[in-house]
Amino acid sequence: MKVEALPARAGVHQLHNYEEIAENFDWTEVEKEFSWYESGKVNMAHEAIDRHADSDRKNKVALYYKDQNRNESYTFYQMKRMTNRAANLLKENSTLEKGDRIFIFMPRSPELYFLMFGALKMGLIVGPLFEAFMEGAIYDRLDDSDAKSIITTPELLSRVPYDRLPKLETVFLVGEDVAEHEGHIDVLKHLPTSSDKFEIEWLDKEDGLVLHYTSGSTGKPKGVLHAQYAMVQQYQTGKWVLDFTETDIYWCTADPGWVTGTAYGVFSPWLNGVTTVILGGRFSPDGWYKAIEDFGVTIWYSAPTAFRMLMGAGDALVKEYDLSTLRHVLSVGEPLNPEVVRWGAQVFDKRIHDTWWMTETGAQTICNYPSMAIKPGSMGKPVPGLKVAIVDDQGNELPPNQMGNLAIEKGWPAMMRQIWNNPAKYESYFLKDKWYVSGDSAYMDEEGYFWFQGRVDDVIMTSGERVGPFEVESKLLEHPAIAEAGVIGKPDPVRGEIIKAFVALVDGYEPSEELIEDIRQFVKKGLAAHAAPREIEFKDKLPKTRSGKIMRRVLKAWELDLPTGDLSTMED
Ligand code: WTA
Repeated sequence: MKVEALPARAGVHQLHNYEEIAENFDWTEVEKEFSWYESGKVNMAHEAIDRHADSDRKNKVALYYKDQNRNESYTFYQMKRMTNRAANLLKENSTLEKGDRIFIFMPRSPELYFLMFGALKMGLIVGPLFEAFMEGAIYDRLDDSDAKSIITTPELLSRVPYDRLPKLETVFLVGEDVAEHEGHIDVLKHLPTSSDKFEIEWLDKEDGLVLHYTSGSTGKPKGVLHAQYAMVQQYQTGKWVLDFTETDIYWCTADPGWVTGTAYGVFSPWLNGVTTVILGGRFSPDGWYKAIEDFGVTIWYSAPTAFRMLMGAGDALVKEYDLSTLRHVLSVGEPLNPEVVRWGAQVFDKRIHDTWWMTETGAQTICNYPSMAIKPGSMGKPVPGLKVAIVDDQGNELPPNQMGNLAIEKGWPAMMRQIWNNPAKYESYFLKDKWYVSGDSAYMDEEGYFWFQGRVDDVIMTSGERVGPFEVESKLLEHPAIAEAGVIGKPDPVRGEIIKAFVALVDGYEPSEELIEDIRQFVKKGLAAHAAPREIEFKDKLPKTRSGKIMRRVLKAWELDLPTGDLSTMED
């Protein structure tokens, strides 16, 4: 695709000349784009909503929202008023103060975004949760972060164990028939009557923004905290990578429970004053194509699993819709197969641009830019202003074409600022106090393109969602029939990986189809549907180290018929 010369705001350029810009880029230039550059104080909600509402973009649509029952749009001016109402509602009905944690646990809806930005206007740290989470997952996150409040729906309330969460003071409920009582607030009742004027809480650029819990290979999910300053990179990558211009209609398919759904679902487009489409409800190929057609989507950001499912739905379906408005298509979350890139080129007549980043990086990190040749299968090149390298386990940089740890030099704008409540864990990500080590292995070719090779650890990526094997194993062990459990990602053509569990049973239990189903339901109800193993295999005993750690590497070798490698640490 050709990049047109687009009018850029002062000091900022779309990425027309990668090499030149990458060489000299200075993030402080981007800071000048924001009003806080002058005042010294910042608030994401001001930069993403209010300042547009007070400008020529006042009557421009900020949000198109559509699901089975609703089809609505809100201008930046309307968003300002609604988020002010939400902020007043939250403030007047709680003891919440700047820096307090508030979680959002509900399906997508305009109210979700009013409340999210209302909370940000108060200076709260927002923790978005997937609607699919069950009680155990909710408890872990709220407990770890001492959350004072949660926003949810009457339907989901039964999964919030507030009796076991003494710090949780206020539950905001969005829905019909809310029984309001001490600590339970009916949002839809108060929203229309709350004042639409609100004095925003001005923050420092290092103050907290969002807290996304994400999985590693060991331990419970970790709270990755981002600071307000992340906006600098989220804004600028919107220009360079998403290629935002004034007239675009942008659709990011990600749920806000995932960092993509916050950073690129709303922050990046709204920081740039771009119209954003949010589609509620479930994935369906026709529903998705129809959304592109109905809204005239020009920029579309989705994930490999979704593209593979669309591919599976057949090319004939694509032809039933007018997708001619699309001018830029992007992907994130898992390796984007060259086959999918070629399919995209054929059916949409658009290259699909892969982007690599992770919750911890806070914003896009390695990308295929509109102005750059795509090498199918490669993640692209580092975002200008960031230093990305392949390093060995000691933190020494490796030359091109050598596989090693994908690492980023500490100090990029959107870098996570903390692992909540766990400074030691935070420090463990860095080598030589210089390199943030991603947990991915990759190599860089001679032309500076990066190629993903796999995870170094056992983290599973299933349908683009990151699942920690430890969390699933822990849940499995709570099942009365299970004595030992080991969980791996098994390659799958559509989902990238599926979760496969190996379990050894407690004496007296016998393998059966009913037991498999029961175990699956147990994980589903305890954690989340996407964390439930699709395959369960019974074993008499699982491979363990002498210290009792399940050797997932051996399970994986069994599964894939590979050599098991060094077994010297295995118990007899
Ligand atoms: C994987 C936040 C290959 C990778 C966006 C990373 C990818 C993990 C790509 C982060 C890509 C993400 N190609 N793998 N383009 N993008 N990943 O924090 O393993 O949920 O470490 O994603 O996803 O997962 P997270």
